[in-house]
Amino acid sequence: MQGHRFDSVSLRQYDQAISVHNAPETMGHLNGETPTTENLGNLIRDVQSTGADVVKLLVDVSYITDVAPIFHMLTHCQVPLIARAVGDRGLISQHMVHSYQHQKVYKLEQMNSGTKVFGVVSNPVGYSKGPLLHNPAFRHIGYNGIYVPLLVGNIGEFLGVYSCDDFTGFSVGIPHKEAALRYCDEVHHLSIGAVNAIVRRPTDGKLVGHNTDCEACITAIEEAFRERQVANGQESHVSPIAGKLIVLVGASGAEQAIAFGANSREARLIIFNRSFERANALAKAVAGEALPYECFKEFCPEKGMILVSASTVGMEPNVDQSPAPKVALKSYELVFYAVYTPQNTRLLQEAAEFGAVVVSGVDMFIRQAVVRFKLFAGGLEQTTQIPWEPAFSFDSPSDIVPNTFP
Ligand SMILES: NC(=O)c1ccc[n+]([C@@H]2O[C@H](COP(=O)([O-])OP(=O)(O)OC[C@H]3O[C@@H](n4cnc5c(N)ncnc54)[C@H](OP(=O)(O)O)[C@@H]3O)[C@@H](O)[C@H]2O)c1
Repeated sequence: MQGHRFDSVSLRQYDQAISVHNAPETMGHLNGETPTTENLGNLIRDVQSTGADVVKLLVDVSYITDVAPIFHMLTHCQVPLIARAVGDRGLISQHMVHSYQHQKVYKLEQMNSGTKVFGVVSNPVGYSKGPLLHNPAFRHIGYNGIYVPLLVGNIGEFLGVYSCDDFTGFSVGIPHKEAALRYCDEVHHLSIGAVNAIVRRPTDGKLVGHNTDCEACITAIEEAFRERQVANGQESHVSPIAGKLIVLVGASGAEQAIAFGANSREARLIIFNRSFERANALAKAVAGEALPYECFKEFCPEKGMILVSASTVGMEPNVDQSPAPKVALKSYELVFYAVYTPQNTRLLQEAAEFGAVVVSGVDMFIRQAVVRFKLFAGGLEQTTQIPWEPAFSFDSPSDIVPNTFP
């Protein structure tokens, strides 16, 4: 972002933008130029000199960090100004400043200078159901917060630019979970090589990294086994995955969390990943074994194995793809797939055809989101009162499906 810092932005721009909403306006365009406070200031002056009561700017941006000068102008501009960045990388300004098309989710009319901003930092980001879960949950407990999608290419630059207290917490998604670790001032001891949540500590502004994926995934798998044990009258206090062979397909940030969780339950681990180097590094960290990706299809040393994957291969829009060929699924007792868009992936459909217990990414998503929400809301007691069962479909695009929490 060419040296521009974003320390002083506040959310006062909402009042300003909304109060001038019905006034006559003149549009300005910053064609092709990277926005800076200087060229935006010049453009505003040019538009104002035409006699406009209200200046409206639509700005093309290449990076989410290019949006920062727009927020700066909205905060400091002395003339009535409506401004937003267009395109996916400008989503943050569309959600927070000028767009009313997602009112059901974002409730902009309830925002004010005290509103805390949270968001999911990811690339791509359109798949995320986080806004549908977190925004209604904030409202449910009366917390003054908004949760927005943040399409981020470079997480280090993003955190450097959006460094003021208004930006209070972030979910971390594809492909930033490991890189995010480097930018946290402190990391919770269970963060295990990847973080999926960053919270700005209110007392000193330090960024604290957490990982809520690990327990979320393992407990989702354990519960599925336990339900079957109860049905068969075989309840036990020992973890149902202790001693089992877990086969991981992928070595992503999510799978790292899963591998550490499986290790903590004394499961055995075999890891296959497209990049063998990544599989090997993870295997070393969790006392597992990495095998070449090409060998997965034939791998069948015993019956009753657990297949776990968080590979992005079967994720929207590639819903007709699967990280595991169907023929390889017959030896698995349980198949878990962390992908949750769509909910019923090709992998799970094919595993079910072989009679495997299937656990979808939705089970994990809800569990990790609940823990993360508590971190965001500072451990507020009221979080226990939230009806966490989602009222939206995981098989529909996020941006058109409203949540119906009260
Ligand atoms: N349900 C939940 O709560 C939850 C939580 C976390 C994540 N997730 C989901 O899990 C998925 C992964 O997320 P992440 O952040 O962990 O992603 P990530 O770090 O980017 O990892 C992606 C993984 O997929 C593999 N992969 C990608 N394209 C491939 C291809 N064409 N062929 C073979 N392997 C391929 C990668 O292999 P290489 O190492 O070789 O690149 C890597 O192992 C996403 O769909 C995310 O939504 C769900």
